[in-house]
Parts: sequence; C-alpha cells; structure tokens
Amino acid sequence: MQILNFCDDAALQDHNHPKPQVLISLLRVPVYCHQSPFLISLQPHSMCTCEDLWVECRFLEILSFVQSCITNHSVSQSLCFPSLSQRVLVELECCNKLVVLKRSKHHTSLWLKTFQPGFLQSWFSIYEQTTLHLKLLYIFFVCLFFIYSNCFCLQQATHCRSMIPCQDSPSVKHTYYAQVSVPKELVALMSALHDGQVPDPSDSSRVIYRFRQPVSVTSSSLTESWEIGPRSRVWSEKENVDEAAFEFSETETMLKTAESLAGPYVWGQYDLLVMPPSFPYGGMENPCLTFVTPTVLAGDKSLAGVIAHEISHSWTGNLVTNRNWEHFWLNEGHTVYIERMIARCMESEHLRQFKGIGGWKELQESFGANNVLTNLVPNLHEVDTDEAFSSVPYEKGFALLYHLEELLGGPEVFMGFVKSYIQLFAYGTVTTEEWKNYLFTYFKDKVDILNKVDWNAWMHTPGMAPVKPKYDTTMADACTALCQRWVKAKEEDLASFTEEDVKKLNSPQLIEFMALLLQEEPLPLSHVKKMQEVYQLNSVKNAEVRFRWLRICVRAHWEEAVPLALKMATEQGRMKFTRPLFKEVYNFSKYSDKALNTFKENRGALHPVTAMLVAKDLKING
Ligand code: BES
Ligand code: ZN
Repeated sequence: MQILNFCDDAALQDHNHPKPQVLISLLRVPVYCHQSPFLISLQPHSMCTCEDLWVECRFLEILSFVQSCITNHSVSQSLCFPSLSQRVLVELECCNKLVVLKRSKHHTSLWLKTFQPGFLQSWFSIYEQTTLHLKLLYIFFVCLFFIYSNCFCLQQATHCRSMIPCQDSPSVKHTYYAQVSVPKELVALMSALHDGQVPDPSDSSRVIYRFRQPVSVTSSSLTESWEIGPRSRVWSEKENVDEAAFEFSETETMLKTAESLAGPYVWGQYDLLVMPPSFPYGGMENPCLTFVTPTVLAGDKSLAGVIAHEISHSWTGNLVTNRNWEHFWLNEGHTVYIERMIARCMESEHLRQFKGIGGWKELQESFGANNVLTNLVPNLHEVDTDEAFSSVPYEKGFALLYHLEELLGGPEVFMGFVKSYIQLFAYGTVTTEEWKNYLFTYFKDKVDILNKVDWNAWMHTPGMAPVKPKYDTTMADACTALCQRWVKAKEEDLASFTEEDVKKLNSPQLIEFMALLLQEEPLPLSHVKKMQEVYQLNSVKNAEVRFRWLRICVRAHWEEAVPLALKMATEQGRMKFTRPLFKEVYNFSKYSDKALNTFKENRGALHPVTAMLVAKDLKING
C-alpha cells in the first residue's frame, strides 16, 4: 500500500486513471460513532480490469487493512472482520491524499478499519442531546453516515472521501451493492433499492440489510415510515411521520408531472427521509432517497417546492451529471428550471413567473461586485466548493435558461430541448461546452438568435446576469405594494395597517413581502412593533417566514428579537437560515459578542460545514 501526498484539487478531480467497474462495500455501523471504528471493505468487482484502484481520502485515519485472496467470498465470510494479516497506521491530515492500492491476483479485497476523529462525532453530538432514545439516535447516526458517504452517490461536493476511501468525483459513475450490519431492532436505509435482509452471522444481535443500486451513480436509517404514493415512502421520527406524510402528499403528482416533462423516472423508488434539524441544506437528491430538512414541515404544504426541486434532480444531477463542480450550474440551473415547470403544470404560469422574480432578487443579494466566484462557470482551482456555494448556479443558471426560453419560442419549445438534452446525456456526465454544442445542434434553425447571446458575459464574467428576463408581475404586485406602504409610512400613517393586509397574501407572497423589506433600509423600530401588533408574525411557525421576520426585527434593533433569532439559528442548522441569522445579530453591534458566544457554545452541535462557514462569517479564525 502506498500513500501519495497528492495535492488534490477539491473541485476538479477529473480522474484520468482507470475506474473500477463496480465496488462492493460492506459497512458495519457501530451504535455510537466514537464507540468503535467503521468497518469498510472495498472490493473491486471480479470483472474489474484496472490494475490500480485510486481512491481519495480526507479526514480518514486508516487504522489497519488486510488483503485477502480471491475466493468465492461468501457473504458470511465477508461479514466477519478478518484477522489482520498486516497492520499499518496511516495518518492522514486534513488535506486530501490519494491512496493507491496495487492490485494483484492474490490481493483483491482491501479491508479498511477507519475512524474519523471529531468530524462525524462533532455533528453526532447534537443527537445525543436532543433525541429521545437510542433507537432514534441510531436512525440519525445512520442518516448522517450516509450523508457523509452518500455512499457511492452524490456526496456534494467533496465529503464522500471523508467517510470512505473512494473515487470522489462526479466524473466517475458506477453501480454498487452494499450490505449494512445494524443492531436488529433497527432499520437501515440507503440511497439504493432494498434487496432483502439476513441475520449477521458474526453477531446474533445484528441484521444485515442489503441494497443494490443498479443505475450508475457518482461517488444513506431507522424510523417509522408511511406510504405516500405507489413508489414513495416518507421516513422520519415516529413523532412527526404523519405530519411529514401530509406535507409531502403531492410527491407522486410531482413525479408524474416531472416524467411528463423530462421522460421516465429511472430510479424505481422515490423515498423521502426527514433529517435531523442540523441538516445543512433544504434537501439533497440522493438517488432513490431524498434527504430533506425538517424546516420544510410548514403544516400547509407551502414549502413542498423543495421536494419538486429534489425530484427534478432525478433527471438533472443524478441522471445527467456535471463533469466536475465548475459545471455545477448544469445540475442546479436545469433543476430549478424543471422545478418551476412543475409549479407551472401543477399550479399556474403566474406562480412560475413569481418564483422567477424571487430568484432574480436572491441573485442580486449574492453579488460581491467583482467576485470571480459569481461567474456561472467559475474557476475552482484551489477553491473549497463549500465556500464557493451560492445562489449563482441556481439563479444565474435559471435566468440564462429562461432567457433562452424567451428567445427560442417559449416554455414548451425550450422544455423540449431540456428533455432531449437529458435523454442524450443520460447516465453520463457533461460540461458546459457540451451542453452549448448540443443547444446549437438542437436549435440549428435558430443559430442566428443563439449567436447574438453574449455567452462570455453569461458564462465567464462576474456579477449580475447580463440580461434581465421579463417576468409577469401579477403575483408580485401585491407584495411590492405592501412593502412600499411600510417603507413610505410616517408615524402618523401606522394606524392604517390592519391584519387584512396580509390575509390577502398567500404564503409565498408573505415570504416575498418580507424578502422585499429586507432589500430596503431597516424599518424604524416603531414600524416593526406595529407590524407585530397587526400581523402577529412572532407566532408564525413557517420557517421561511420566521427567518425573514426575525431578521427584520434585529435589523430594526428590536432587542427582544435577538434571543429569538439566536434560538432559531441554533435549534436548526439549515445554512440558508443559520448563517444570515448569526450575521444579522453580529451586525447589531451591541449584540456582536452575544452572537459570537452563542456560536461558540453551539458550534459542536452544528454540521461541520455550517460551523466552518459561520465562523468565517463572524470573522473567527481557526
Ligand atoms: N444538491 C443541493 C444541495 C447541496 C448543494 C448539497 C451543494 C451540497 C452541496 C440540493 O438539490 C439543493 O439545491 N437544495 C436547495 C433546495 C432549494 C433550491 C429548493 C437548498 O438546500 O436550499
Ligand atoms: Zn439542487
């Protein structure tokens, strides 16, 4: 075994070296992650022709490994941790390194006993504090295990390698078969199809769950589950499984709508797993099993757009995948485009237009004038993808696609292209250049129009999109009008506001009204207090509303809102909410220290990526 100190570029990783055809892994999950190491076996498939298996590692301490001869490895044999024929201690520091495994006839499988000091554990600790019993603890643990590993599926962007040594690049796709041993009172879930379960021959208290993922995917739990459709179950804590089943009851309709737009759903099952509150994203499109934040449980299905988004990734992201993270907009831009087409089909064109306006506003907020990371296709050389994450690939990507739609003949025509692009690049990976070439091929009769597009400005220039698409403002007008009434109101006008103002708005409009207020100069405190008196916003549970409301209050220097904002920032850890809430309190100079101290006290309970980014936001070193 040879360890190469390879200065890997986290974002690029176009593997030129051979890839294994199939990797079989056996994962043995301890009850507590600090109790014992993971046992992982990586076995190149017998048909694998490559000599070397190159895998990336990060944060992994490989405690030992063993190589065994090719035999007809029965499962029972594989399940026992083999006696160690060789002992190596490989200390990997936090930078990425490559492990090169030399393959010979007699050494086909490699067992790695790995342990992650701190990294997983730090996130795990939150569940020790908050979950009710061991069973739930276990559920979450397994969930987060698969978040990190995203076992042979998208662990966006570069975290799979921190779970297991693997070819951690979207350019490498393969099928996989996995067996997960867990205590028998528990259930394991994975980003794959369930393929039965057998008793663990090495330990009678454990069961082995088998999974197969027959569709190639790039480099996933225990709970109650409810059926929410013919190919869908929702998995969540017992306590909120009925709430989740209600919230996501439109899943099958969304799937059917997406199929009518983009072609058949190839993954078989589409399940949803409600994650613990510290899950850093709204959702994550693991094949067969989307992970979703509990903050979308609004009680009225109003935040289910996140599900439409993750469903759309079944085509753009999982089936057609960006070759490397510089082309991330191909995943996210097209996904937002399809998500909004689903909204158009299930609701109305007005809603799609309204969402387009909201997206454009988010884009305006994300701009640091000349920041090259705001290029649609950024250069990610030596850039940490977690730090580069922004609304740019989503909203600049959507704006480009919507602009092209306007130029080329409208939604039906352009969706025809998107469908055709998906079918052409299905099961593969794609770059922006390849996407553009196909656009020109598909619209060969409209090349003149396409030649007038300023591609360089769209793709390779920082800042706002070069052309602002035209959006219908039917749904947005009421939000703009109410926002302007508040912004222009003098003290003596405050009596004119009544609860009727917001009764006329639906949930997305209420959110948009508040987003508009946040684009304005802070309101005077008297205005914000009046707003609470008439609209009773403190008692709204919808996380998207609450998040914006608390920011408005802190910005107006309403001191009572500070503890509420910090509570929301720490009770859940979705980055979209947690980062701006901490920042908002930090910017209220009287409470800067309070923000810093609250962060430091809660840091260990946040997802490590969230903690790293909040620390940067609050200008904390180390
Ligand atoms: N794939 C992303 C989440 C992600 C992005 C994970 C980058 C790791 C690195 C997912 O599909 C997503 O975009 N989620 C959004 C949902 C929203 C656009 C509806 C989110 O988390 O906010
Ligand atoms: Zn997405």
